[in-house]
Amino acid sequence: MNRGHGIYPCMSEIHTSSNIPQQSATKHSPGKVIVITGASSGIGAQLAVTLARHWNARIGLMARRAEQLEEVANQVRNAGGEAEVLPCDVVDDESVRRSIGQVERQFGPIDLAIANAGIADPLPVHRMGDSSLVQRVFRINLEGAANLFAAVLPQMLERGEGHIAAVSSIAGFRGLPGSAPYCASKAGLSCYLESLRLDLKGRGIAVTTIHPGFVATPMTDRNRFPMPFMMSSERAATILERGLRRRKREINFPWQMVGAMRLLRAMPDWMFDLALGGRRLPK
Ligand SMILES: NC(=O)c1ccc[n+]([C@@H]2O[C@H](COP(=O)([O-])OP(=O)(O)OC[C@H]3O[C@@H](n4cnc5c(N)ncnc54)[C@H](OP(=O)(O)O)[C@@H]3O)[C@@H](O)[C@H]2O)c1
Repeated sequence: MNRGHGIYPCMSEIHTSSNIPQQSATKHSPGKVIVITGASSGIGAQLAVTLARHWNARIGLMARRAEQLEEVANQVRNAGGEAEVLPCDVVDDESVRRSIGQVERQFGPIDLAIANAGIADPLPVHRMGDSSLVQRVFRINLEGAANLFAAVLPQMLERGEGHIAAVSSIAGFRGLPGSAPYCASKAGLSCYLESLRLDLKGRGIAVTTIHPGFVATPMTDRNRFPMPFMMSSERAATILERGLRRRKREINFPWQMVGAMRLLRAMPDWMFDLALGGRRLPK
């Protein structure tokens, strides 16, 4: 199926979970070995607990804050799963590899690796000279995910089975005001996963790209602008669990925000600029 437009295949139409055939796969059985980055709070923490409850999963919990990870590990165990706490920074390639090695020794081969760690630091006009801010967002959101996949994919390829997933965002569908690094990192992440999906076709490894709208987490707690159709992290985790179980190519939600972002993407540039150009972020 040719989904590309000219020389920019990454800008091609992103398919929804509803209009694509699902990847061939077996249903996840209980006891699958999973690693999740950014598992110390928000979506990652809730997803870990949900996967423990539904899959009895054995989960490697990765993030920088060990104390928060311990709390999540207790919740995972109470939900019927097993947990390994792995304090690590996703930007540090070596520390990611060490953590993956630890999970493999503890639980066995990894069935599902979820790159969820991310930050959403805004880039207002008065900070546009701060390249370190931009680098930080790119490194955590994009390189961090690539580091996780580099650490798990060789073993999955050798076994001829596995599943990788990344939490991107609908903010990657089009450049939005005040969020250049975040939007670019998420567009890049979605494109990265799309390429991997093509490369891994026929090798037994499923690839899932996740595009959430607003979810109530510490990340969105900081926002001072309207967040339509905001969803609880529990609801988001339930949607993710179902989509991951079916090894979907994409999990996009809520449909209202996905539809709105698709409309924005279809808009001609002059109309898009008229609607959103020159907007300032609320302090
Ligand atoms: N909430 C939303 O509305 C929304 C919408 C679309 C997409 N997303 C995406 O969903 C993902 C999770 O976000 P969230 O909303 O759950 O926010 P959150 O509660 O702030 O969680 C972010 C997680 O990323 C981890 N993290 C950040 N930098 C890291 C690093 N260098 N190394 C390892 N872990 C790191 C944090 O843990 P430590 O600080 O302990 O390291 C934390 O566990 C992000 O990728 C975000 O972009 C969120």
